[in-house]
Amino acid sequence: MSNSFAGKRIVFGVTGSIAAFKVAGWVSALAKEEALVDVVMTEAAAKFVAPLTFASLSGRPVFEDMFSAEQEGGISHIGLSREADCILIAPATAKTIARLAYGLADDLLTTTVLAARIPVIICPAMNVQMYEHPATFNNLKILRKFGYHIIEPDSGLMACGEEGSGRLPEWEQVAEYVLRQILSQDLAGQKVLVTAGPTREPYDPVRFISNRSSGKMGFALARTAFRRGAEVTLISGPTAQQPPAGVECVNITTALEMHQAVMERYEDKSIIIKAAAVSDFRCATQSDEKIKKNRSSLVMELEQNPDILKELGRICDHNRQLLIGFAAESSNIEEEGRKKLLDKELDLIAVNDISSASAGFEVDNNQITLIDSFQVVKLLHTSKLQTADLIWDHVVSNEMLKTDRP
Ligand code: CTP
Repeated sequence: MSNSFAGKRIVFGVTGSIAAFKVAGWVSALAKEEALVDVVMTEAAAKFVAPLTFASLSGRPVFEDMFSAEQEGGISHIGLSREADCILIAPATAKTIARLAYGLADDLLTTTVLAARIPVIICPAMNVQMYEHPATFNNLKILRKFGYHIIEPDSGLMACGEEGSGRLPEWEQVAEYVLRQILSQDLAGQKVLVTAGPTREPYDPVRFISNRSSGKMGFALARTAFRRGAEVTLISGPTAQQPPAGVECVNITTALEMHQAVMERYEDKSIIIKAAAVSDFRCATQSDEKIKKNRSSLVMELEQNPDILKELGRICDHNRQLLIGFAAESSNIEEEGRKKLLDKELDLIAVNDISSASAGFEVDNNQITLIDSFQVVKLLHTSKLQTADLIWDHVVSNEMLKTDRP
């Protein structure tokens, strides 16, 4: 997840649900990323998990009641949130949600929230009947009106044996929503379209021509754009990547399907970034039956796929849409990049140096050179997630955004 939480201070409220044991892992993940986590437990929470568990994982004292909080170096319900970047309450029980909705400040957690002027993120977790009860529904509606961010629970089998909505989501999902609350929202108001992954060009019912793209770079661009406040659509070929939280995902298989998906969605976007490795050719014919090997050779005719990026360069509105392409090159990085920048009428091209085994296809790191009409900037050799952030940094700091932010 990279160290996006490093130095961030989070008040982490834990309430009395069986899911309390799950968030021990969340606190541990935050501490590993060098976040400062102040865990505040309700009385009921401490019956499910020992406060010592959270103290050991966060490396910091755990706050349980007003009195003990004031003992800890004078930190009070006001002081706890004053220094923090956000309050995260997980799991949030129906009772805590109700108390917060009615401003019932009767313990350290509820008084801390009432006194706070920072983002509040709530992860409800309870039995499905309780979650779907009109009382809970109305209380959550009130919390949304306060501007609190409610993260929808997952569906599935619960600890009580019933099935339905009310399960605590996985940390990987929740972390993205928390980051969107605490990181600089420099892409707020932007509508971003990202393409990612390979395409597959079938020639019989079980076989296809494809390439080694893992989708990691495109998924990292989508994930980081969401964290920085954008509304993101991700069109992807088949990959092993998890869909990023908060991102609209469209799955396609062939280059022609990607072409159609992009053409249907590009018009209202303010940033279009094409990280997909589109197959340049598709099989001219496709056998309905699996091709047998009872022959000594097989000649296949290929025909060219549309160059989606080039078409976008021609038809998009360059006054209000920022068009960014990628190029995979093994030599003459700058020259080849510049050629594609001009030929495809792009605003910016990210040239991927695939000559080294530690950057480019399949691996976690990238070595990118950014080229536009004015400058050439070589980015650090770093993780694809960090590379994605560096690309957005470049776009923002060079004032390349064409749509005003709200
Ligand atoms: N691209 C595209 N449609 C294609 C081929 C490529 O939209 N049919 C886009 C890719 O998503 C990428 C850029 O074009 O953003 C460059 O891809 P790359 O494979 O480096 O270059 P090509 O244009 O295919 O040229 P070549 O393979 O000859 O280097």
